[in-house]
Amino acid sequence: MDKWKRIEEELQTLRRQHLYRETKVIESAQRSHVRYQGRDMLMLASNSYLDFCYEGRIKEAAAQALAEYGTGSGGSRLTTGTTILHTQLEETLARFKGREAAVVFNTGFAANGGILPALCRAGDVIYSDELNHASIIDGCRQSRAETVVYRHNDMADLERKIRERPGRQGLIVSDGVFSMDGDMADLPGLVELADAYGLLSMIDEAHATGVVGATGRGCEEHFHMEGRTDILMGTLSKAIGAEGGYACGSHILAQYLKNRARSYIFSTSLSPVTMAAAKRALELIEEEPWRVGRLQENIRWFCGQLRERGIETDSETAIIPIRIGAEEKALKVSGMLMERGFFIPAIRYPTVKKGEAMLRAALMATHTKEELSSAAAAIAETVAAAGLEG
Ligand SMILES: Cc1ncc(COP(=O)(O)O)c(C=O)c1O
Repeated sequence: MDKWKRIEEELQTLRRQHLYRETKVIESAQRSHVRYQGRDMLMLASNSYLDFCYEGRIKEAAAQALAEYGTGSGGSRLTTGTTILHTQLEETLARFKGREAAVVFNTGFAANGGILPALCRAGDVIYSDELNHASIIDGCRQSRAETVVYRHNDMADLERKIRERPGRQGLIVSDGVFSMDGDMADLPGLVELADAYGLLSMIDEAHATGVVGATGRGCEEHFHMEGRTDILMGTLSKAIGAEGGYACGSHILAQYLKNRARSYIFSTSLSPVTMAAAKRALELIEEEPWRVGRLQENIRWFCGQLRERGIETDSETAIIPIRIGAEEKALKVSGMLMERGFFIPAIRYPTVKKGEAMLRAALMATHTKEELSSAAAAIAETVAAAGLEG
């Protein structure tokens, strides 16, 4: 019996269906321009929305932490892996999000995988938006609670499903900014239902922090409902330009997660270097609000430029979907844009539904208007050309 037969066949199937994936190796820092295969490319796909991965003062803070603390944390958070830089970051995060406390996890993925099973268990119900991120889906599965998926942002469907399960303990969870479509959760509707039915409310601010709200504080600031969500989860790996995940909320939430979230307890903590970088990034968002302002201006400008050229799209966030449909066509359009120096990969199943492939443009505060106009023109031309070729 060939042990690898099934696996090889599956890889073949993925190739045949244009769903096979490979890494793209970047040969420079993650900035608005990157070097890829020896060429300069305009980066239109990075989650480093504020261009913080290579920011001078953040690098300085990281370098200082490296000199003082070295490279590793040496233990898990509850053993030897909590340095003063870890607690300083948590204090900064809690202040930034207007909450009593914050708990830092190793990644956003680990945060969702820790928070949901800690808070919910067999017999509980988790109501989860159908377009939630994979880390939420996995967190729901790990919790062993009944997971009830409601239609995307459909509060009537959500309420119907809650009413079908009267008196059950549980939680409603949603991406704050949806990671592929770039639209925002109906946070006012979600929190109202959670409060009305005695459920916990949780949003994932991975793509909201540093992007939405007048000063980049995320979804609650955007909707003017500060302090209303029970659990604000997020990541330090996107606009913050570092890595790590977090939960912000009450002291009770923080104490509970530190005692019950397995991905917090049983994993070596992040390096002090990362903590120092993330803290400095949060401070910079506060000290220099023009960065968030410029990102938001770029979003409006780019959507306008696309619409002028016949590409129907709109977004209030740094994620701008350009819908293509067939996987093969999306790959072709992305390839043609790459040839022309624009780095915009195709997003395909299983990240989005089959037959709903798209280009996912992601903007940075440091893109210039000229760069965004030329990208919009290239996208419109390429989509039209790929359509003509069938
Ligand atoms: C909505 C959402 N939540 C969580 C994550 C996971 O965060 P991290 O990359 O820090 O693991 C991501 C993306 O990676 C995401 O898009």
